Amino acid sequence: MQSLVNKKVLVVGGSSGIGLATAVLALKAGAQVTIASRDRARLDGAVEKLGAGADGRVLDTTDQASVDAFFKTDAKWDHVVTSAGAGGRGFLPELPMDRAFAAMDAKFWGYFRIARAVQLPPDGSLTFVSGQLSQIPSRGATLVSAINAAIEGMTRGLALDLAPTRVNTICPGVIDTPLWDQLPPDARKALYDKQAETLLTRRIGQPEDVAEAILAAMTNRFMTGTVMMVEGGAGLLSGY
Ligand SMILES: NC(=O)c1ccc[n+]([C@@H]2O[C@H](COP(=O)([O-])OP(=O)(O)OC[C@H]3O[C@@H](n4cnc5c(N)ncnc54)[C@H](OP(=O)(O)O)[C@@H]3O)[C@@H](O)[C@H]2O)c1
Repeated sequence: MQSLVNKKVLVVGGSSGIGLATAVLALKAGAQVTIASRDRARLDGAVEKLGAGADGRVLDTTDQASVDAFFKTDAKWDHVVTSAGAGGRGFLPELPMDRAFAAMDAKFWGYFRIARAVQLPPDGSLTFVSGQLSQIPSRGATLVSAINAAIEGMTRGLALDLAPTRVNTICPGVIDTPLWDQLPPDARKALYDKQAETLLTRRIGQPEDVAEAILAAMTNRFMTGTVMMVEGGAGLLSGY
């Protein structure tokens, strides 16, 4: 296993949820961690929680100039993870095109911009976070399926383009993170309860479950072009 001691790790989307849990684990493994996202105050709060060895930098992955400026500085990373972005739900015929473009921009094109701009060493890695809708469709989430499937396709192509630098994607199921704060508390509880009842693991996923898989993708020297499911067996239940 590749050591993360004194390695530089960048987590885009690291101020919350899966990204923040990844930052915690990378720090524990001895890395120097930079987290990046749009909101300065949220970043500062997360950096304070993370403690020594962490810093936070503002980055908006939807803004080409922001991405270019971010990666043009002298700062270099050994491993880059991106978990930023979400959105795009809605019954496809009724989804306004501007909202559809914005969702694709926030996630797929954001990851694409980072992949174009980042410079990684031969023994480094790039890890994306997609989502189980890429494999398991759900009514009213067609665009989200397409966004996540596009990221998984990009992973395989990039693994060829950037070799020997490794490129992987972790594909989570429903995970208990602030992403679900958009739901009213009752609806969120109902979703989590249903997941815990039906999943093979009999519990809802936690950000640490996904972060552990991200660390594995970062440190396993023989893993590239892979999409790793971390969804409590949801795929088996759906029969895909
Ligand atoms: N939670 C789940 O159930 C679940 C399931 C499947 C897939 N996923 C995927 O997992 C990833 C992480 O989700 P999460 O649950 O950890 O969400 P989260 O807790 O809401 O965290 C999202 C993070 O991304 C940052 N971010 C959002 N837009 C950004 C942008 N344009 N540029 C830079 N940073 C941005 C946010 O900070 P700012 O808002 O301050 O920028 C925040 O740090 C997402 O791609 C999501 O689609 C999540």
